[in-house]
Parts: sequence; structure tokens; C-alpha cells
Amino acid sequence: MCGIVGVLGQHEVAPILVEALKRLEYRGYDSAGIATIENGKLDRRRAVGKLVNLSDLLVHEPLAGKIGIGHTRWATHGAPNVANAHPHRAGKVAVVHNGIIENYRELRSDLAAEGIGHETDTDTETVALLADHYLAQGLAPVDAARATIARLEGAYALCFLFDGEPDLLIAARKGSPLAVGHGIGEMYVGSDAIALAPMTDRVTYLEEGDMAVITRTSLLITDHTHTPVNREARTIEVDNTRVDKAGHKHFMAKEIAEQPAVIGGALGHYLSEDGRQITLPGEEIDFKKINRFTMVACGTAYYACLTAKYWFEQIAGLPVEVDIASEFRYREPPVTPGTVALFVSQSGETADTLAALRYCSGRADAILSVVNVPESSIARESDLALPIHAGVEIGVASTKAFTCQLTVLLLLALKAAQARGRISDDRLADLLSALRALPATLNTAMESNEDFRTAARLLSASDNALFLGRGLMYPLALEGALKLKEISYIHAEAYPSGELKHGPIALIDETMPVIVLAPCDSLFDKTVSNMQEVMARGGQIMLISDAKGAADAGAGVWQTLTMPTVDPILSPILYALPVQLLAYHTAVAKGTDVDQPRNLAKSVTVE
Ligand code: AGP
Repeated sequence: MCGIVGVLGQHEVAPILVEALKRLEYRGYDSAGIATIENGKLDRRRAVGKLVNLSDLLVHEPLAGKIGIGHTRWATHGAPNVANAHPHRAGKVAVVHNGIIENYRELRSDLAAEGIGHETDTDTETVALLADHYLAQGLAPVDAARATIARLEGAYALCFLFDGEPDLLIAARKGSPLAVGHGIGEMYVGSDAIALAPMTDRVTYLEEGDMAVITRTSLLITDHTHTPVNREARTIEVDNTRVDKAGHKHFMAKEIAEQPAVIGGALGHYLSEDGRQITLPGEEIDFKKINRFTMVACGTAYYACLTAKYWFEQIAGLPVEVDIASEFRYREPPVTPGTVALFVSQSGETADTLAALRYCSGRADAILSVVNVPESSIARESDLALPIHAGVEIGVASTKAFTCQLTVLLLLALKAAQARGRISDDRLADLLSALRALPATLNTAMESNEDFRTAARLLSASDNALFLGRGLMYPLALEGALKLKEISYIHAEAYPSGELKHGPIALIDETMPVIVLAPCDSLFDKTVSNMQEVMARGGQIMLISDAKGAADAGAGVWQTLTMPTVDPILSPILYALPVQLLAYHTAVAKGTDVDQPRNLAKSVTVE
């Protein structure tokens, strides 16, 4: 998604803006630009591709000024080229935008009727044209911005810069997150706290419909009724050291390797000193009053919810409905009494998940969220937000956040089971002990990294792949297919192993690798039958199992990758590692952009 920064500084802002934009690269983008005011005059520089292209341009065509705005663009309207890159400018106004202005065509025709044409394919240019049009009608910059914002429909985070106004930024938020940073004699605007971290840890998050009028010494926020409001300035804990790869070739590799540590850290936040009690933040949840959970998310977070469904239903006897956020929010499902709605989101800003949360607010008995950013919109709009403590996740493909989501969801399911008297003390103690041992088990599994690299090299020659899993392994098969396609661009699909015979088996021939996730559990024998059906038709089976499963799988398996043996309940967390490593090494073998795959964004803050 696009990234926005703004600086009202005491020093030259161009390098500061570029540095802040670098911290937003992880969101995914295809062009970038900045605008500044020097001697009252507005000017801008923009470049396609990576930020280094903008930096090169600024060496040859420097921009001076102590106030400026910057943007990394993830194209929604219009191709990724310089003309469509932000900041967009019209006359005396420059603006950067994250989101989608849904009525921009209508606004364009209104402007055209007054003889005001447009030069780009973007919705954002319309915002600049409108604001400049109001300036030309004699409105002051603040009023021109307010009048412009009043006519916008859709989602936006905006930051305006005005020619001749060297001490004024105007920011506005509706649907896309935006924060104001507090400095000493300086003020900042950013899409998230990560962008602002090098400048400040004092941040005010704008709420829906807010507009902020910012000078170096003042901040005036008004709400959607134009009423002045006070929004809390928080001190945030953001790792403000430059996030780096710590010697790994990619952020994704680093974040895969961090999983034992961050899972251990997450457990430390939710288990008592002796590791035998689960402690949730906030007020105690009365699980006896809950009749069902509705869990809603997107992408990998959705697969975490699908996994949690098995846990809550098998361990706690609690019915769980799971929905993809973009479907849930428009299906408008009934939310019956006794329902708790739970939202899982690494970024805490995914537009569809946030919209689904808002649909449930006032309908569900409680709103829970499992997030990696405690200051995020989803966290702030929840009755109880459960942080996953995964640390900043830069790779667009989610890895450590996924396993930390699973860890927290499993703890929640165990807490519910305990509260509902559905689990014995001994069984709970066994599972908590196995969870505490999981970081070490993951480290052991990491020792097979070379085996996964070898298997991936074989896989990288394929154009398609199937992932199969039963029970708790089915959501993980879905995650494995997503990981592979989103970073290696190989088409991959996932099916419940038992579903193959109902159509997909028609795809099987010697060119189709079939990755089977199957620890030797109560369903293993049935999966072996499915594998035989595949091999009888020339399909290539890549089995990921434990030692017993590898021994019992029988002859003909193309590749076998062996994992440590764990309690079946914990297998989704452990088996996330092989599907991540398989996807990672396949992508490296194919030479794709592992950390910022084509077309993808880390946080999808538009519909
Ligand atoms: C995961 O690898 C993907 N990058 C994507 O599916 C992601 O999980 C999804 O967009 C949800 O993001 P969130 O967790 O920040 O809400």
C-alpha cells in the first residue's frame, strides 16, 4: 500500500523524507516522490521504481526546503510511471494520498465543466485540482482543504502542501491510517509509526474523519463535524533502529529464522512465570457466556483463523465461523447473541478486516483482535486486542506473524477450554509444556534447511503445484499454496486431501508436484491412500511428515522432508516452517523479488 510522510522541520527535509520513505518500502510500491517549499515556492521530484532512483534524481536535481511531503505509490489508478507518481500538484497545491477516491470521475467532470482539465490517470490529481480550484475562488488553504475533503467519497489518508505556506501541513484521514508525530520545534505526518520512528516516538493517531492543521508549533484537529477535538499523544514503542536483514539475504529469511525467538517471546507474554497458567491482558473473558466465535481476516491471517476453528471446536467445544473479510462485510450476516467477533491482522490496518470489525461493532457481544501492531486501527477499535509480539515484519509474505498469530490463537483456545471445563489439568499441562518446547523444536527443524533448498530447486522447475492436507493440516496447505504463489509466482492450489477425488485429481500427471502435509496422526493412513491415488496416475508426491510418517508412507514418494515429532495439536505451528522454507527457496531459485513480490503490498489499506 502507499506510504505517506510529511515534515515541518528546522533543517533541510529532502533527505529526512527519503529516509522516512525507506522505512515504508516494506508496504510495497512502484514509484516515489517528494515535494518541498523553498523561498515560498513549491517544487517536486518523482521517480519510477525503487527509492534509490529518487535519491539519484535528487543528487542531480536537489530540492531545498525545510517543509515537505513524500510518498511511495502502490498503483491503484493509472500505470506506475512518473506522471502518475505522487506528490500530485495543481497550481499552488501539492498532495500525497493513500486510498481510493471513489467519486473522482464525477469530481473530474465537475472540474471539466469549469474548464479545469486533468493530466494524469490518477484519482489523487483530482484532489489537488479541487483544492487549487477553491484557493482560486479565494478560500484560505485550510478552508480550501476542508471544502475539498468534504466532497471526497471513498478511503483516504491525505497530506497537503501549499505554495507560499512554509509553515503549514494539512492532513486528513478516512479509512486509511495516518499519524501526526511531535518533535521539538518540528512536526511530522506518517502512514504509520515506523516511518516516524527516526524522528519521534510521540505520536497522535488521527481518527476517522479527522483533519489536522499542523504548524511547527501547533496541532489543531477537528472531527468529521469540524469540531475541534483532542486526540491522545502516545509514546510508542517502535524499533527505531534501522530495520536490517541481520546478515540474511532477505527480510523473509531473517523473519523465518526469528520464529523460535518471537514465538518464545509471545509465550512469555501470555504464560505465567511457571509456564502453567495462561494470562490474557485486559478484563477476564467469560468464555462460559460465549456461544460462538465469528473470526474474520484476509490472506494468511484468514488461514490462521481457519486453523483456530479446528482448535476451538476440538479443544473448547466452541463453534467457530470463519470468513474472508471482503465477503463478510458485504454479506451482512446475522450476528446472534452470545457471539464474539475476532479479527486477525498483522498490520491491524487491512481495510476489509477493519470494515468487517465495524460491521460487528454493536452487534457482537465483544470485539477481539489478534494483531502485530498494538497502536493500529483494528487494535484501537477492539474491546480487547491481543498483541502477537512478532516484532516488525518487513517481508511482504507473512511468516513469523503467522506462527505468532497461531500461538496466541491456540493459547486463547486453551484458555476457553479451561474456562469451560473441557480440558483436564493434565492435558492442559502437557500442551503448555509442548508449547514451551516449541521454539527448540523449531530450531531443530531449521537444521533441515538444506533439504528444503534441494526440494525447492526441483519445485522451481514446475509451473503448477498442489498442496494437500487433512484436519489441522488443511488450512496449512492453503497457506503453503499462498506462500508459494505470492513469492515464486508458481500457480499453486490447496485441497483437503479427501477432496482430491471430487475433481482436482483430473489435474494429476507427471508434471504436477503434489506437496502433502501429513504428520503421522490419526488421519495419516487416509492420507497415504490419497497419496497412492496420486502416484498411480504419475503424480509426484513431496511428503512433509515426521519420522514415523516418512517410514510408513510406502514406496514411490518423490521427495520426503522430515520434521520433528510434536503433539498433533501443535503441528500447524511447526509445519508452517517447511511451507515457508519451500516457498522461500523456490523463489530464490527463480530469482523473484522475495521481500517485495510484484503487485503485492504488505498492508492492503484499500478495498
Ligand atoms: C500474507 O503472506 C500476505 N502478504 C497477505 O495475504 C496478508 O496476510 C493479508 O493481506 C492480511 O494482512 P494483515 O494480516 O495485515 O491483515
